[in-house]
Amino acid sequence: MISLEELNPRRFELVARWLSNPEINRWLTAEWRGRAVTAPVIAMAVRNPRNRMFVILYDEQPCGLVALADIDRSDKTAMVWYFLGEATLGRKGITSEAVRQLARFAFRELMLASLYAWVMEDNRGSHQVLQKAGFALAGRIRNATHSGERQVDRVYYDLIAEPCP
Ligand SMILES: CC(C)(COP(=O)(O)OP(=O)(O)OC[C@H]1O[C@@H](n2cnc3c(N)ncnc32)[C@H](O)[C@@H]1OP(=O)(O)O)[C@@H](O)C(=O)NCCC(=O)NCCS
Repeated sequence: MISLEELNPRRFELVARWLSNPEINRWLTAEWRGRAVTAPVIAMAVRNPRNRMFVILYDEQPCGLVALADIDRSDKTAMVWYFLGEATLGRKGITSEAVRQLARFAFRELMLASLYAWVMEDNRGSHQVLQKAGFALAGRIRNATHSGERQVDRVYYDLIAEPCP
């Protein structure tokens, strides 16, 4: 049973610990990559009205995060990002289902019209997550991010409100 819980102070330390893990943050935007994150940094992110962040609960156990960033109420769009904090729970479909639930929230509660996400070209698992959640390939920006030691493409996906399950 997978559900989302809006990120609250009780979970800030846990989320900061996950985000400080280089195995996780190496795949994220430069803002998080290679950083040791603290609870106050998470608190600041939560206060920013352009963000909405949710802990993924798997049978009530917190195991990861899904989030909207750059929420733009005028253009009705936002960026989706996510990670599984507990690697032992990988490949059970948890993140894909959490992204589906986040998209439903974004379309039904925030009345957004379009969501997008970008993935490093070599992040195989993340491409799969977006495809399973119903996102469509939108294009790529070449050499626009850094994966490990390599300059790689950003691959963009989008999802619009109508086909949301
Ligand atoms: C990528 C990540 C989010 C996947 O989380 P997850 O909960 O294991 O994903 P799911 O179980 O929903 O996987 C969806 C599909 O991708 C596959 N998959 C997951 N990780 C994979 C990997 N590393 N390599 C290949 N396929 C993978 C799953 O097997 C599943 O396919 P299936 O339905 O055919 O079995 C997780 O590994 C992670 O947090 N990575 C680090 C952070 C990150 O990359 N965030 C995304 C930044 S854009």
